[in-house]
This record gives sequence, C-alpha cells and structure tokens, in this order.
Amino acid sequence: MSMARVRALRSVEIGMNNLAEARRFFTDVWNLAPVGEAAGAQLFRGTGAFHHILAVRAAPQPALIRVTFDAADRATIDGLHAQVKAHGLKTIDPPAALRQPHGDYGFGFKDPEGRNIAVVCGVSDHADAADQPDRPRKLSHVNLNSGNSDATFAYLRDALGFKLTDTTRRLRFFSCNGDHHSIVLGFAGGPTLNHIAFEMPDFESVMRGAGRMRDDGHGIEWGPGRHGPGNNVFCYFLGPEDMPIEYTAEMLQVDDNYRVGTPENWKWPLGRLDHWGISAHPSERMEQAGLRIHFTGGGWRLDDWR
Ligand SMILES: [Fe+2]
Repeated sequence: MSMARVRALRSVEIGMNNLAEARRFFTDVWNLAPVGEAAGAQLFRGTGAFHHILAVRAAPQPALIRVTFDAADRATIDGLHAQVKAHGLKTIDPPAALRQPHGDYGFGFKDPEGRNIAVVCGVSDHADAADQPDRPRKLSHVNLNSGNSDATFAYLRDALGFKLTDTTRRLRFFSCNGDHHSIVLGFAGGPTLNHIAFEMPDFESVMRGAGRMRDDGHGIEWGPGRHGPGNNVFCYFLGPEDMPIEYTAEMLQVDDNYRVGTPENWKWPLGRLDHWGISAHPSERMEQAGLRIHFTGGGWRLDDWR
C-alpha cells in the first residue's frame, strides 16, 4: 500500500490575551477576513478556498494551540492515523466525525516533541478563491523551533509523508505539495513557535503590507529580502503581543526532481543572509519573540470539534 500523505498546511490556532485587539489587527491591518466563531475561537480566512487559516481564542498569554493539516479523504486520514501510531506516538485519539467548519473527519495527536497537531478532511471550504491584491491567500508555512530536529524530521517524513527539500546550518525545510516548504524546523531550543508565514499574491502586496504594518506601529523586524531555500520574498514583523509573523510571496514550486540542498549549498558570503543582501540580521526582539510561544498542553484534543 502506498504511503498516506497530508496535502496542505491548512490553519493554525493561537491563543491571545487581548482578543478584541487581535481581531482588529488580523482584520484591519493583516487583511484577513473574519468568518465567524466556532468552539470558542474566532476564525479568519485568506482569499484562498480554505474555510479559515487562522483561529484565535482567549488565553492568559500568547500560545500556539494547534497546527492543522489537510488530507484528501477519510481513507487518507485512516492511513495517516495508522502511520502516526506505527511511528510510536502515543498521545493520539482515533479518527472521528467532526463538525463543520473543522471538517467532517479527522484526528488530533502530539508529535514527538509535544506539539499539538490535527489532520482533517472534508472541510466546507469557500467557492470563491481568487487572489486579491494586498490580502493573504493562505498560510505559507509555520516555522517551528526544535530541540530534537532529528526525531521531528523522522516523524514528518514517515508518519505524515513530508519531503525534505533543503537543509541549512540552522533549518530544515519540508514540503507536502508543490510549495518548496510548508513546515520549517529549527535545530535549536525547544518546541516553540518561531513564526507563522502568510502568503501574499505578489511581491507588491508584501511591500504594501509592510507599509500598513508600519502605519499601525509594527516596524519591519527582518527584511525585506529574498530567502535562499524557497526563493521567497519576506518581511517579518511582531504582531499583537509580539506574535512573530511573516508576509511572504513567490514561493518556489518544486516537484520530485528537486535536488535536496545541504548546508554546503547554502553558504552565504560574509554579512549576507539572503539573495538581495540589503537587510541586516533579524532584530533582537524578533529573535526573542521566536522563542517564547509554547504549545498548550491539551491542544491536541479535538473534543470541541466533534
Ligand atoms: Fe518564514
């Protein structure tokens, strides 16, 4: 039997202390669109088809509650569940029927480093999915710090079907569809959130987004630049409560012929961190923010989605 694979990074759920401010920010500044509330979380969509790409719920401090992947159908969900169990992960519920807008079937589990992961299928997605200038289309990737990158790498590959596309001195990049990466894994720290990246329809929208952020008091913390692995344009910011977020565009599309890069392939000349070479290192504040957001203990459970 062939391996079951997830086919997209669908959404993330975060906890924020000031829900009203988060709603204002993600709607008016970050340019997502609110699409109601479910199971106590406020939901926001991009212009793409996914019902929502961000869920925000009230929490004592900023937290990462869950990362949700999309699967093609129930058979794939069952296959993924079997692979996750076969990989030895024990904090996992059996696949179950879900309520919309979470999907019609799925399961939740904790990954090898305790991150909360959900895999779902059959979500009641939107029919309108055309790009709009200045509005994020979808999540591009989630970058996760890692204290045991080898263990998480093995699980992403063997349990969820991700493919490694590049390794640098500091990061591993993983693909689950045409995008060069949907998950990035660090080699340092614990299993905290490094940043959440939202994909804009074009480079111009990234830059105008940076202007909107500046108007709202959030200067650029890193960028603008063009990354090595993935060749995507980037600007990094700190959102409300110092939530680390990125606008990106022009992600490299890959297929099975992509040659997996090694740290040797991604050595920059002294003082450079990207293809353009116009921006300095990430700000100290950005580096710190990328270490302090933890996964919640119980976020792997999908009880309130059933
Ligand atoms: Fe990124």
